[in-house]
Amino acid sequence: MARYVVCAAWPYVNNVPHLGTILPLLSADIYARFLRMKGHDVVYVTGSDEHGTPIEREARFRGVDPYEYASQIHEYDVKLFEGFGIEFSNYTRTENPVHKEFVQQVWRKIYENGYIFTQEDVLPYCPKCSIFLPDRFVEGTCPYCGYPKARGDQCDECGRLLHPSQLINPRCVFCGSKPVQRSTKHWFFDLPKLESKVREWLENSSLPENVKKASLGWMAEGLKPRSVTRDNRWGIQAPFPGSEGKTIYVWFDAVLGYLSATKEYFLKREGDPEKWKEYWMDPETRTVYFMGKDNIPFHAIILPAILMATHEPYVLPHNIASTEYLLYKGEQFSKSRGIGVWVDEALEIAPADYWRWVLSRLRPEQKDISFTWEEFYRIVNSELNDDIGNYVHRVLSFIKSRYGGVVPEPGDMDSVDEEFKRKIEEVPRRAGEFLEQARIKPATEAILDLPRAGNQYLNARAPWDTYKTDPGSAATTMWLAVNAVRSIAVMLAPFMPSAAQRLWEMLGMEGRVHQQKWDTASQLLVRPGHRIGKPRPLFAKLPPDFLEKIGDQLAQVRRAVQERRPPVLR
Ligand code: MF3
Ligand code: ZN
Repeated sequence: MARYVVCAAWPYVNNVPHLGTILPLLSADIYARFLRMKGHDVVYVTGSDEHGTPIEREARFRGVDPYEYASQIHEYDVKLFEGFGIEFSNYTRTENPVHKEFVQQVWRKIYENGYIFTQEDVLPYCPKCSIFLPDRFVEGTCPYCGYPKARGDQCDECGRLLHPSQLINPRCVFCGSKPVQRSTKHWFFDLPKLESKVREWLENSSLPENVKKASLGWMAEGLKPRSVTRDNRWGIQAPFPGSEGKTIYVWFDAVLGYLSATKEYFLKREGDPEKWKEYWMDPETRTVYFMGKDNIPFHAIILPAILMATHEPYVLPHNIASTEYLLYKGEQFSKSRGIGVWVDEALEIAPADYWRWVLSRLRPEQKDISFTWEEFYRIVNSELNDDIGNYVHRVLSFIKSRYGGVVPEPGDMDSVDEEFKRKIEEVPRRAGEFLEQARIKPATEAILDLPRAGNQYLNARAPWDTYKTDPGSAATTMWLAVNAVRSIAVMLAPFMPSAAQRLWEMLGMEGRVHQQKWDTASQLLVRPGHRIGKPRPLFAKLPPDFLEKIGDQLAQVRRAVQERRPPVLR
């Protein structure tokens, strides 16, 4: 048994989450559920990322106070994630007092340790709006890749971290004016001082190759100091001597949320309020992070540098599971252009479990992947219904009608039976190996092998014939087949928590499928004489005209959810 902190990138509360936004949260949820079934000690933490220009920008556009804006969306998101079946140990927010205090303590410590210096910084300033334009208040062309909509702190296209003065043709996002350059005093994080330590750690870390390579690539020209402070009012007060009136850069606040959320979790629980330290300071703990690829530099370079600079024995990332982008019919999700599916809309169209499976199947692990309704239709109808649903229904209804619901005593096994038995033993092991590496998509591919093999096995054995001609063979078939159903229920539990529990009950099993050990999916634990429950369809097919009608349905759903959204978004 090992100790894990499972971390999902904190979603910005600048708008309603879409299918791509929920991907890291869902992946982390599946992974955390799997680890628990492997018997590990797991804490899953994340929360709303509410400071900085991403939120202030939207609040300003709408003329709303940023705290009010963030609070309304935070509350709404909490309900949506619950509706999506995501189970956190702690889902919190960066406005919570434990977090704010923790962030200030950490930066004060880093200051005392000599990693902070002050310097005049020349920044874009909008004379018309009378504000500095850091981060997302300014857009321009990326000096590295030429992407025309790069922001002041990062280019979304090539992933590089930027300083706003590097942008070519900068413009104010509020009024479009060309900014002037103005000098202002800031507190800088002395990253060059930590550079060789970070590089050495990266080279020897257990991180996946793609993350290592990208991070070492960005570091090739050395790390530049980055300013910790901002002139914005919205954010956590900077804690340095003389820094009154300045706030902390949103990323230098949010990445510490993984630690503060663990701390808050143990503070709220009965018992030992210091216990969070076991999760962050015991070198045996594994911290695993889920995110989109644009977040990699902040987790593979910045977060480790911050943790090192505290001189505390914090554990550095064990694994960073990043994905490429999920697109909607080949385009980027865009709220303003109405391109995409938002989580509240999705839940009106199909149950959470269907979405969880579809998103796991489409998870862009190697390259960008497009969500299309054709894929959605295919996955729901052919995988959930034909492969999985049909298999379990064939098995359970046959046992119900022919054996009065009681699992029969098997006869001898021949080579076909042996082969299917080996499948039951092997598939959960293979799927488990993928999941251990946070490779969710290939795990689903492995899992599908079992019901698919099961359908073939039933066809080959034809128990509906042998039931009369060779009852021993029919009994062996159904005993193995129902054991495969148990195995499927256990393996589906992290992916489709409600459907797996329903299947568990149809099998006539006690308790919760989530309490079963993953490794039991490889065992034949359904004994002869066991009485199954009442078979019911596990999933429902999408109607044949689904693809024809989805456009209209989506438009209708969109109007309906609009009225329930937070008032600041209506
Ligand atoms: N809010 C960021 C994003 O959506 C992710 C923040 S991760 C954290 O890109 F660790 F900084 F919180
Ligand atoms: Zn302006």
